[in-house]
This record gives sequence, structure tokens and C-alpha cells, in this order.
Amino acid sequence: MCGVVGYIGKKQAQSFLIEGLSKLEYRGYDSAGIAAIDNGTLSIVKCKGRLAGLADKVKENPVKGTIGIGHTRWATHGEPSDLNAHPHTNCKNTISVVHNGIIENYLSIKEWLSSKGYTFKTETDTEVIPNLIDYYYEGSLLDAVIKAAAKMEGSYAIGVISTEEPDKLIAVRKDSPLIVGLADGEYYVASDIPAVLNKTRDVYLLDNKEFVELTLDGVKLFSEYGEEIKKDVYHVTWNADAAEKDGYEHFMLKEIHEQPKAIKNTMTSRVMPEGEIKLDDIRLTKEEIENISKIYIVACGTAYHAGLVGRYAIEKLAKIPVEVDVASEFRYRDPLIDDKTLTIIISQSGETADSLAALRLAKDSNSRVIAVTNVVGSSIAREADDVLYTWAGPEIAVASTKAYTTQLIDMYIIALYLAQRKETISKLELEQIKKEMLALPEKVEEIIKVKEDIQKFAANNYMHKDIFFIGRGLDYNVSMEGSLKLKEISYIHSEAYAAGELKHGPIALIEKGTVVVAMATQEYLYDKMLSNIKEITTRGAKVLGFAFEGHTEIAKSVDIVKYIPKTLEMFAPVLSIIPLQLLAYYMATLKGCDVDKPRNLAKSVTVE
Ligand code: M6R
Repeated sequence: MCGVVGYIGKKQAQSFLIEGLSKLEYRGYDSAGIAAIDNGTLSIVKCKGRLAGLADKVKENPVKGTIGIGHTRWATHGEPSDLNAHPHTNCKNTISVVHNGIIENYLSIKEWLSSKGYTFKTETDTEVIPNLIDYYYEGSLLDAVIKAAAKMEGSYAIGVISTEEPDKLIAVRKDSPLIVGLADGEYYVASDIPAVLNKTRDVYLLDNKEFVELTLDGVKLFSEYGEEIKKDVYHVTWNADAAEKDGYEHFMLKEIHEQPKAIKNTMTSRVMPEGEIKLDDIRLTKEEIENISKIYIVACGTAYHAGLVGRYAIEKLAKIPVEVDVASEFRYRDPLIDDKTLTIIISQSGETADSLAALRLAKDSNSRVIAVTNVVGSSIAREADDVLYTWAGPEIAVASTKAYTTQLIDMYIIALYLAQRKETISKLELEQIKKEMLALPEKVEEIIKVKEDIQKFAANNYMHKDIFFIGRGLDYNVSMEGSLKLKEISYIHSEAYAAGELKHGPIALIEKGTVVVAMATQEYLYDKMLSNIKEITTRGAKVLGFAFEGHTEIAKSVDIVKYIPKTLEMFAPVLSIIPLQLLAYYMATLKGCDVDKPRNLAKSVTVE
């Protein structure tokens, strides 16, 4: 996720570009840059780090011009650096582009353009865009952008300026947001409305593949076939703060809703309908994979819970023994590591102190280390041997939601990749698993749409002091994550138990009215779970049960059932966690808690 802005008018562009970007920093902040054209000359200032650094830089060396574009970056392709920061240019330095999104076929475009003599200086996918526009330029910037966009696969919101037509700004979007602000003699583009709210409340909300041409005379809209189109102006009535959350009351709720897209992005170019799992990010040879005698998965909090699911997937599919540990324990317990051990560190932020220490310990003991992280250029990403990113976009709420589900996806991908290389699954099995995996975003969407039952359960139970979660196998792992979510944001005491363990102690806590969330998605454990549910309802527990659609037997034993769309048992956690996140969210809001910033917690724990 990145933020883009653009301006054309009578004033110097720089002031709006910096101000607009400041409203979009929530979309990414590892580097920033602006470009403007003055007297036919393109000037660009960009630098690694937060926008404040860029603002200081341009105070000393202003970027002159009344037409310009700007960008605040959340790195995907290429580490955060001055060079990889946007805006990017074509090799002739005549066209400048800012981009939010991912050009999925950038490697093939790059190869093709290279064969035509184009050269590239950055590691970004974006750099192909100005060069592609240059390739198609025959006197009309708009036409060249339309032709370039037709070649690009993936997602993009782009702003383009060129010294060939210094009085025009062209923009287009596909699957990444872009709006156009309309004021008197001044026109703007931006990734999100707050960037322009100080200037205007009249905007065009662009749809996919709508192209805009901004000049001093006004704004024209075009279809992908170059035909002029008309669009209604949208008048903004809400305030900037709400808009940064896209109208959601809290970032957590917004991030819960972003999961279908985040999951899809994380699978992009790795899990495809045809062929093998592609994992260019991990450079393990077949021989190295066959040599692995043991895998350690090490992480903290939610990431640790994702690791537990990872263990199940790797052992089931790749038949390699896995141990999962919390980083703060692992680092002090003299784990048995050698050069046949593979260590996987999972961390959303990539900065968690204990996880980083665990990574260093593993490396010092000659283990190969793979990082699964959401933040490009983070310490864990930099120090690991290989990195597999989760493409969740910035997670702002302290309670992890989309980071967890995308970490699960990365763990499945690793498991499948190892299994494929070790030939522990057949081609047919791989095809079936991939098919189910690719259907997950749609099923998550389906679950998010129906939340009234969860809202109602939350409303009836948020005053309880203790809530228990039980499950077996993967359902136990999801219970642990559901319980963590609930306690961290609602401050309700909560524990997760392996359902089979109840009679070894915890069942003593059950009395009339005790609230229990019982997960029963695992088919091979279903009957056993039903028995465990019976054991607690007999003692007066009030139960919210979870099962796959069609498994209606559970309804006889519980107070309320939430049915989850059917998928492979292995993927149940991706779906069953969604209502648990929502349950925690609604209970916390009903209690009036500060959902996005719960007490005593920080988003990134960089101290021991
Ligand atoms: O950034 P990390 O994934 O390394 O963070 C690990 C934990 O601190 C984190 O998952 C924490 O448990 C979350 N607040 C849970 O929602």
C-alpha cells in the first residue's frame, strides 16, 4: 500500500504535494518523493524515511513547478532506499510516474523493454511504467498511458507527468484507489479523499480503468478505449479522520474487512491455478530441502499462533518434524540447532526484539533462516537468509488481524513448496489444495458479510468476566488466537484449552452460565468435540459453536452455531478466525474500550 498525489494549477505544486502526502502517510512511510516540471525541466526530490525528511529536504532545495506528483511508499518490490523511492522516470528522464499497487508481470515487461534497448536502475516493478509509456509515446501522453496500461497486469493507481507535454497530468487506476479533486482552476489526484479535503470537497471517485487528463482548463475522463466519458461529481460531507479509516469506526474493523484482498495479494504470483507453487523469494535447492532434519518456527503472540498452524501444514504435507516456540523462551533455552535445521521466524513488524534475538541465535548456530514478515526492509527481513513477505499492507490496529491470516497463507505456501520439492504430495493433490486455497478470499468475504449473529452474541455476553475457548487440533490453535484477540482488546479474562484436556483440570471452572466458544471444524475430530461440548453443557455452560456448513449435528448441543463455508480442514483457521476477530471487536466496542490502541500494548515490541 502506498499513497499517491498530483497537482496542476497556478500555484507552486510542492506545497500541496507535501501536505497531501502527510494525509496519506498511514498508507506507507518508508520513503517519499515529489516531482514537478518547470520550464520544460523535470526535477525530482526523493528520500528514504518518513515524509518529514523529504519536507526538510525540499525546504532547502524547493522543487519548482505548477504541475507535479508525489508519493509515500510502503515497499513491496525493492527495499526502502533513496533509489527505489518514487517518483520513477524513464531512461531518457522525460516521463515521471508515481504508483500504488503491484505490476505482476513487470519482469516480462522489463525483459521485453530491455530487448528494445531500455535500461533500468531500480529494483522496483514501477520503473517499467514510465519506460512502457515512453515506448508507446507518439505525440499523445494520454494515448501512451492507455496503451501502457493495456500491457500491465496487477493493480495500479498511477500519476504521470512528462516534459513532452508539460501542461498535462494523466492518471488511471485499477484495483488500487484513486480520486480526482476539483477546485476552481486547480485540480488534484490522490489515493484517498483526506489528501484533498483542505482544498475541495468535490471529487470524482474513479472506477477501474478510467483515465483522467488534468490540464489548467479542467479534467477530462476517458475509457480504456480512449473515448471521453462523463461521471457524477461526489460531494464529500464527512470529516478527514473518518475517511482515513475509509469510513470504518476503527482501523481494526477496516483491517478485518481488508482480509480478502490481503489474502489474495499474498497468494499473487505464488499460487496460480496452473502449475507449481512459485517461491522465487526462497532460494533453497532441492538438495538443501532434502537435507533439512527439523524445522523451528519461532514467533511471538499472534505470529506464534500462525506458527502453530504452520507446523500442522508442514508436517502433514512435507513430512518434516517441526517445533514451534515463543521467541522469548526459545532464545534462552539452548535449543538444539545445527546446519540441518531450518528456522522460520514469523513477525508482522519484523522488529520484535525477542524474534530478532531468536533469528540471530539460529544463524549463529548455522541454521538457515527464513523470515515471514509484513514489513519490507525491517530488521528481521534484512537479517534473514530468505524472506517471504505477507502482502497485508500496513496494519495499524494493535490487534493483529490481516497479518495473522496472511501469515497463515505464507505458512501454507512454504509447506506446499517443501512438499512439492520433496515430492511428498502428488500433482493431483497439489491441484486440489491450490483450488481450495484460491477460493479462500471469496469465502472470507462471505463470512464478513454476515455479522449480525456475532454482533448479537457479543451484545448478550460482553458483560461476562471470563470467556473460554475450546477446540482440538487446528481448532485449538485458532481458539488460542481468538482468546488472545478477546483479552487484548476487551480486557475480558479468557483462556483457550485443548478440548481433550478439559477433564484434566479446566472443567472445574465450568458452572451455570459460563460462556464457552467451541470450535468444531475438524471433521476427524468432530464427534470427539461434540462429546466435549456435551461435558460442559451438562455443567451449565452457554456455548457458541463453530462448524462447517452441513455439519448440523452440533446445533443440538449448543446455544448458537456459526457455520463456516466448507473448505479443506487444513484451511479452516483462515475462515474460522474471522468471526472470532469480529466477536472480540464487538465485545470491546460494547465495553467502550480503545479498540485500536488497547491499554499497556504497543504495535511493535522492540524491547525484551
Ligand atoms: O510484529 P510481530 O508479529 O513480531 O508481533 C508479535 C506480537 O507482539 C503480536 O502478534 C501481538 O501479539 C498482537 N498485538 C496480537 O494481536
